[in-house]
Amino acid sequence: MKTASDYRILDETRQRVTVRFEGNELLLREGENLAAELLAAGIAPFRRTPVSGAPRNPFCMMGACFDCLVEIDGVTRQACMTEVADGMVISMPASRRTDDA
Ligand code: FES
Repeated sequence: MKTASDYRILDETRQRVTVRFEGNELLLREGENLAAELLAAGIAPFRRTPVSGAPRNPFCMMGACFDCLVEIDGVTRQACMTEVADGMVISMPASRRTDDA
């Protein structure tokens, strides 16, 4: 996981809330776009592909590519379509093969 980010927060007036990503505590701006906040916090990758394990990060930021999938409180969701809320527990989605059922 990266520790520095190439992205900067422009509006620092929003209240920050505590969320966890892969067990690491983060202070993100409440109500802001989750994908943008995770990128600004230096989180990478968001997930890995099920077949090759290749790292993936947000690409389109508009709900089309699904490269931003994360697991939030046990439910797999698109980070770019989700607002930051206090207490979110976020992790990389578990790899699931179709023949695992
Ligand atoms: S970044 Fe493409 S769906 Fe979220």
